[in-house]
Amino acid sequence: MSHIRDTILVTGGAGFIGSNFVLGWIATGGSQVVNLDLLTYAGNAANLAPVQNGEEGDARYAFVRGDICDAELVGSLLRQHRPRAVVHFAAESHVDRSIVSPEAFIRTNVQGTFCLLEQARAYWSGLGDEEKKDFRFLHVSTDEVYGTLGRDEPAFCETTAYAPNSPYAASKAGSDHLARAYFHTFGLPVVTTNCSNNYGPYQFPEKLIPLMILNALEGKALPVYGDGKNVRDWLFVEDHCAAIRVVLERGRPGETYNVGGNSERANIDVVTAICDLVDELRPGLGRSRRTLIAFVADRPGHDRRYAIDAGKIARELGWKPAEGFESGLRKTVKWYLEHGDWVDSVRTGAYREWIEKNYAERERQGLGTRD
Ligand code: NAD
Ligand code: DAU
Repeated sequence: MSHIRDTILVTGGAGFIGSNFVLGWIATGGSQVVNLDLLTYAGNAANLAPVQNGEEGDARYAFVRGDICDAELVGSLLRQHRPRAVVHFAAESHVDRSIVSPEAFIRTNVQGTFCLLEQARAYWSGLGDEEKKDFRFLHVSTDEVYGTLGRDEPAFCETTAYAPNSPYAASKAGSDHLARAYFHTFGLPVVTTNCSNNYGPYQFPEKLIPLMILNALEGKALPVYGDGKNVRDWLFVEDHCAAIRVVLERGRPGETYNVGGNSERANIDVVTAICDLVDELRPGLGRSRRTLIAFVADRPGHDRRYAIDAGKIARELGWKPAEGFESGLRKTVKWYLEHGDWVDSVRTGAYREWIEKNYAERERQGLGTRD
């Protein structure tokens, strides 16, 4: 029998969090990484340019374009690379798209996770006893599986009941339940992380923070859903990646860990902070960017508040976020202002179609500008 290697198989490593994770993994002296990514609209192989194979690249990084629903491909990658862990990021991740077209979410998030778990189980079953103990399947999930909180309710903890409200959240909840079942039924050493809203470099500009930065820069309307008082907990992406590394090394199989930034903010406060940063760093619009804020029709089923109790991962594994929200947001705004080429490369025709589809009708039913 050939032995397990010090390799990790990452899925979705060309997306926002996955690419930050792969870059951080290599930069912090990590082992060989195989990145399996389908390169959907949200994936961009160029995010990994600093580690891409080739003259300037890093020999520890390999990219495979493919689908996590392709059982044959997943099985053959596991048999060929014999990884010690699977770190599973690949997903359809945007709530608004799950409302417009839910099917892809069921396919990738539920069926895709099922396919990975099945193939991982087959591979893991053939390992020796010690290697079986050391293997990990790390399933990256979200706080959205817990549903929504009232203003004064305690933050989500690992024992909070699942109550997903969007097709995206329901598909992630389904994948979490499958991951749990593979531990309980088959003993596959699964660990799951449930994290709050990430922000930082390489986030696709359909999500709140990069969309608002770019619209503010370009003097376009800033579409805030509903009354703007929905609350999210924000975590700088590098902190999330550090949490995943810690859980991979020291997390206990069968456990779930909530990951959060201890930074609850109302959307309107995030958007005004972005306006002020863009005004400071790119003056010249002639008026405050705050005047671009437009309240538009709400997201159906819009969760009011998310908050994370990250006490378990702090107590058991010693992880805490290093970046504060204000400093992390400033870094993020600067990154988008300095990476116009990246922005141009991801804002394709398909991106523009999505923006038109999601916002045209909302703006028509608009609730008015701020001033
Ligand atoms: P993203 O949408 O930026 O990236 C997803 C990546 O998965 C892309 O590279 C895409 O090409 C790839 N992918 C999609 N379908 C695939 C398939 N069938 N086969 C292979 N690859 C496929 O997502 P993200 O924001 O980086 O999120 C990564 C993970 O973290 C997701 O599982 C998401 O649910 C979870 N998460 C995200 C956040 C957040 O704030 N962004 C917070 C908590 C958890
Ligand atoms: O909580 C973790 C989740 O965070 C992840 O699981 C998801 O993958 C990720 O997309 C994110 O989900 P949200 O729905 O919270 O993120 P989004 O950036 O889409 O929206 C953040 C908040 O801003 C939300 O309350 C909706 C609001 N919003 C969003 C957009 C795109 C607006 O007001 N206007 C907008 O144009």
